[in-house]
Amino acid sequence: MQIQVGIITISDRASQGRYDDLGGPALKAAAAASGWQVQAQALVPDDKPAIQRAVREQAAGGCHLILTTGGTGVALRDVTPEAVREIGLRELPGFGEAMRRESLKLTPNAILSRCLAVVVDKSLVICLPGKPKGAVECLGFVAAAIPHCVELLQEVPTSC
Ligand code: MTE
Repeated sequence: MQIQVGIITISDRASQGRYDDLGGPALKAAAAASGWQVQAQALVPDDKPAIQRAVREQAAGGCHLILTTGGTGVALRDVTPEAVREIGLRELPGFGEAMRRESLKLTPNAILSRCLAVVVDKSLVICLPGKPKGAVECLGFVAAAIPHCVELLQEVPTSC
């Protein structure tokens, strides 16, 4: 199946125009390189209702996979995991575990990451770090499992 992707950049500074959004475009390129179609993009501040609204909108719009970048760290403004968990049906802990395990081989700071994956409606939402390099690396660590997960959530016949 053709995977439809939504991308959400979560950043106070980028949403205020004080910062260029580099994470969104980096994820868009990575998604396109995987053969997925990016159909929606959003830029929101580190604000729980704004994050939840953007995720719900993309899920309702038919995005099978929603990639967020930012707000997964330890700063007090980082609320992405709380925002997404609150509207999620279930968490898929294996994604966060794999991203932290592999990222720790690259940087000790990965222990600070609260990256996660949550199912919202029928969409797989994967919350990635804010740093574009970290976001793309983390997506790469879990990409192989994404098509099967999306097929299961969309209830289409799967190959395994
Ligand atoms: N993971 C990978 N693969 N590569 C990275 O450079 N940066 C880390 C981490 N995960 C990084 C990474 C850093 S510096 C932080 S603080 C945490 O993710 C949280 O990221 P966030 O605050 O940008 O969301």
